[in-house]
Amino acid sequence: MLTEKRVLLENIDEPGLNTIDVYERHGGYKSLRKALFDTDSHALIEMLEACGLRGRGGAGFSMGKKVSFIPKGSQDKYLCCNADESEPGTFKDRLLMQKNPHRLIEGCLIASIAAGATHAFIFIRGEYELQADILDAAVAEAYAKGYIGRHMLDSRRSVELVVHRGAGAYICGEESALLDALEGKRGNPRLKPPFPAIQGLYQGPTLINNVETLSNVPLIVANGADWFKSMGTEKSAGTKVVSVSGNVQNPGNFEVELGVKARDIVYDLAGGPPEGRRVKCWFPGGSSAPVLTEADLDLAYDFETMAQAGSMLGSGAIIVVDDSQSIPGLALRLAEFYRHESCGKCSPCREGTNWTVKMLERIENGDSTPMDLEIMAQVQSNIIGNCLCVLGDSMAMPIGSMIEKFRPEFEEHIEDARARADVEAHAA
Ligand SMILES: Cc1cc2nc3c(=O)[nH]c(=O)nc-3n(C[C@H](O)[C@H](O)[C@H](O)COP(=O)(O)O)c2cc1C
Repeated sequence: MLTEKRVLLENIDEPGLNTIDVYERHGGYKSLRKALFDTDSHALIEMLEACGLRGRGGAGFSMGKKVSFIPKGSQDKYLCCNADESEPGTFKDRLLMQKNPHRLIEGCLIASIAAGATHAFIFIRGEYELQADILDAAVAEAYAKGYIGRHMLDSRRSVELVVHRGAGAYICGEESALLDALEGKRGNPRLKPPFPAIQGLYQGPTLINNVETLSNVPLIVANGADWFKSMGTEKSAGTKVVSVSGNVQNPGNFEVELGVKARDIVYDLAGGPPEGRRVKCWFPGGSSAPVLTEADLDLAYDFETMAQAGSMLGSGAIIVVDDSQSIPGLALRLAEFYRHESCGKCSPCREGTNWTVKMLERIENGDSTPMDLEIMAQVQSNIIGNCLCVLGDSMAMPIGSMIEKFRPEFEEHIEDARARADVEAHAA
């Protein structure tokens, strides 16, 4: 029976953990002191690389490597914390910010020191009003105690920190769109390269990391790289807060070591599907991840195994779909979301998401033939890799995987819907 390994979520339900006094009582801001007085940015970067921390926002890129890409020198540099959390099925950053905002703030400050940044921003999803209020209050407390601002704790370092509220657009979670939105423009993705580490916010070198990634940093500085590496697998170190939702009896956030069996997360922690139901498929990393089958639940839940299985760990959000659900119906709902959220800047995504919705509507309305499945699969492969950012891929990959893995259900659905439409036409 799998149990949680609570590291980020340790003490998470303690009343008042969001206040600076309680956070300090648990050793809070000691890692910041260490980063300011007992080490230098070079050693910090080495530690972040050695510990094997990979980004928890989607791509799973090494955090330490990303920091090392930030050029040295005296130009203005920035840190942006991605707290946009709009990927369907993902709700772990919300918990971390609401319950333990100071750990995130401390992580932002240490990462700023490592990157040589003097200004840090937490870009938070517009709908997260409560969490933004909590963060604002925590930032004010940390300023009052001298942890943030000019000559923090009387050191030579200065970092200012601002909580910036988004306006509720999924695309603003894409890192370059986030930068445009922060600059006051419409949140559209930028052409890359240059990557943000070289030319990001206000054209300056910028480190962008997810809330969970940054929340790990004070713990790594406190306990060392070896401690972090002792958890998880060789290539996927540490723990992961996994949001489990969909057809499960006990949905929620569960922290586990990376590499545990996915089935144990779904059944032991999230209670499995409702009585009498079985898992039909599941998304391992939010709705953008290609779906996996019931048999794949026996795989290890880590970055490399999920990639080898043809999907991705993504934001670490498992969405379970049971056998009461229609896959064509689910595909349509998903495509509608991505069409709505597409910024429209590049045509493969703007047109591709729209065509996909229209074709899936045709399937639902009995207006389609099995050949449409070929065309739809082709549309998906024409989107993948051809967009300005991966929003288009985020629709094409799961929908492509549904057509591939559930083709007989799509064909049956097409036949049934056509027969229904015929009956209705004759009756009219
Ligand atoms: C359409 C789209 C939406 C995204 N939304 C988020 C998000 O809400 N939160 C997040 O951390 N990363 C999101 N990402 C990934 C970011 O672009 C980026 O990779 C991430 O913030 C890097 O942080 P990490 O290395 O700590 O994971 C999104 C990417 C795309 C393409």
